[in-house]
Amino acid sequence: MAKAPTFSLIILIFIAISLPTNSKEFPTKGEMRRSQQLTHFLFYFHYHLRGNETSVLVVAQAPTTNTYRTRFGEVQVVDIRLTEGPNLSSRTLGRAQGLFTYADVRETGLLMVYNYFFTEGRYNGSTLNVMGRYPPRSDNIEMAVIGGSGHLRGARGYVRVRELVNDLERGIDIDEHHVSVIFPSPLLDI
Ligand SMILES: *[C@@H]1O[C@H](CO)[C@@H](O)[C@H](O)[C@H]1NC(C)=O
Ligand SMILES: *[C@@H]1O[C@H](CO)[C@@H](O)[C@H](O)[C@H]1NC(C)=O
Ligand SMILES: *[C@@H]1O[C@H](CO)[C@@H](O)[C@H](O)[C@H]1NC(C)=O
Repeated sequence: MAKAPTFSLIILIFIAISLPTNSKEFPTKGEMRRSQQLTHFLFYFHYHLRGNETSVLVVAQAPTTNTYRTRFGEVQVVDIRLTEGPNLSSRTLGRAQGLFTYADVRETGLLMVYNYFFTEGRYNGSTLNVMGRYPPRSDNIEMAVIGGSGHLRGARGYVRVRELVNDLERGIDIDEHHVSVIFPSPLLDI
């Protein structure tokens, strides 16, 4: 008998607490009007570990890194050219600048944290911020776009990567990057 009122009181308190929170999940009129643009980018990524197009510096490794087949512990700083087509001589659209860390002990897997910094056209000066796991020679490479700046402010989405060239001997890797993002329309985002 004594338990029943306590129980309904708890339910009442629960409803009282949860109501305002629930109502916030519905967009306000202003929020509904903010449209999201879905945009796709396709470009090519030229990783050169050596030679006159070098775009990678190995900046750190542990004394034991070389004992791992997977280069576990190595950190690279990269500034990689992004081009419109797969050929290095094709038009430059921007750079991919950031850090690659060999972060997997057992199979080669990198943690990539970098920005696409666009230097051409409508998105000149804008960035997309990427973070994710990159397992070389995998059919399924996908990383998250966790933000953006400039015209791409507030972007969210993902990158799918297809390796076209993975030449360890020459230290060259050419990847096709398919980027899909949504971001609030800058025209409506006043
Ligand atoms: C790098 O060298 C290749 C051949 O040796 C040449 O075709 C290319 O233009 C050079 N690139 C730069 C940026 O100097
Ligand atoms: C890249 O373009 C240059 C000059 O246009 C051409 O000589 C070369 O064969 C092309 N390379 C590839 C892999 O298509
Ligand atoms: C991109 O923006 C920079 C800085 O505003 C400017 O110097 C450059 O000319 C622009 N490039 C293009 C292709 O519009």
